[in-house]
Amino acid sequence: MKVTISVIKADVGSVGGHTKPTQKMMDSVKKMVTAAIKKKLIIDGKVTHTGDDICLIMSHTKGSDNPKIHQFAWDCFIKATGFADECGCYGAGQDLLVDAPSGNVRGAGPGVAELTFTFDRKDPRPAESFMVFAADKCGPGAYNLPLLLAFADPMYCAGLMLPKMIKGFRFEIIDMNNTKGGDHIITLNAPDDMYEIAMLLRDGERFGIRNIYSRTYDEPAAALSTDRLHSIAGKYTGKDDPVALIRTQGIFPAPEEIVSPFAKVPYVGGDARGSHNMPLMPVPINTAVTGLYCLPIVSCLGFSLQRNGRFSDYEVDFFDNPAWDLVRLKAQEKALEIRSQGWYGNAMLPYEELEYSGFKTTMNKLLKKFKVKKRK
Ligand code: 13P
Ligand code: MG
Ligand code: MG
Repeated sequence: MKVTISVIKADVGSVGGHTKPTQKMMDSVKKMVTAAIKKKLIIDGKVTHTGDDICLIMSHTKGSDNPKIHQFAWDCFIKATGFADECGCYGAGQDLLVDAPSGNVRGAGPGVAELTFTFDRKDPRPAESFMVFAADKCGPGAYNLPLLLAFADPMYCAGLMLPKMIKGFRFEIIDMNNTKGGDHIITLNAPDDMYEIAMLLRDGERFGIRNIYSRTYDEPAAALSTDRLHSIAGKYTGKDDPVALIRTQGIFPAPEEIVSPFAKVPYVGGDARGSHNMPLMPVPINTAVTGLYCLPIVSCLGFSLQRNGRFSDYEVDFFDNPAWDLVRLKAQEKALEIRSQGWYGNAMLPYEELEYSGFKTTMNKLLKKFKVKKRK
């Protein structure tokens, strides 16, 4: 059968600032997911939060971009918004940027990552395992470096030297600044086009990985959410906070090869007011954002699929392990280091990125006050 995994997330309000959703909000979405399983709309579903973003992880047979699944996710977020509003939460309904989506929440605010694949437990996929990453307080480019290293650099993924992966992976990269007429996508192959890929992915504010495919098996390996909220809203309404869905093992990198590059804790755009550069810290699932200057966080759950398409009884929380404590410390050291220069230089994002925020108003007022002094 063809199975689809849909990961849909949104920030619809949080308690005490941009920290986490309330228990009531989470419970309301969980209740709706249980009912959707009962009604057979979805096969299975799991509700998590990473910082203030609620994430729905669902398996079903309706395919990617299915209106019923997208509407269901939207209804869940609307319900949670009601509870956020009721208890005076910050940013109730923040990421729901249109009144009602037209059958697809892509471009309406929520972040979407979906993969559809044949699930028959036969070669080359006798078992299906996948990971779901969710990041808060950062832009979609947050995964550019770690996923390029995991899928294209044998220094991080020795598995690339194995026959099943030696031909490499195909990357679909999106120009997130360019939304005219649809999605602007370039397809490049690793390792052949490695330098061209690096040329684009170095700029995570503009270019992001949207999909990755196995070149040997032509199988989808990864899907990422790449919508920029400010492009939809025309102004700053919160950070994009991307999700990534990645199939693992066998013909794809193993989980350890995928999580290892996250030990780099790269500086990513986002953080306080979505306007700074700070390191991306791996954290357990359902962690609130309470760190220094909205230190960006990333969570990672691992799943297996049962024969009926349900998730295995237990998922694994990759970053909820003492093995990541030192990495978390490194992230905080890097955070303290860059915060020591406050607003100066690359501690903040370049002006073009602040263009959608209130900083632009302050800047424009100042620019008007400049006077030309003729040179003698
Ligand atoms: P969120 O998008 O997670 O709400 O964060 C926005 C922000 O500006 C934090 O300071
Ligand atoms: Mg928020
Ligand atoms: Mg958020």
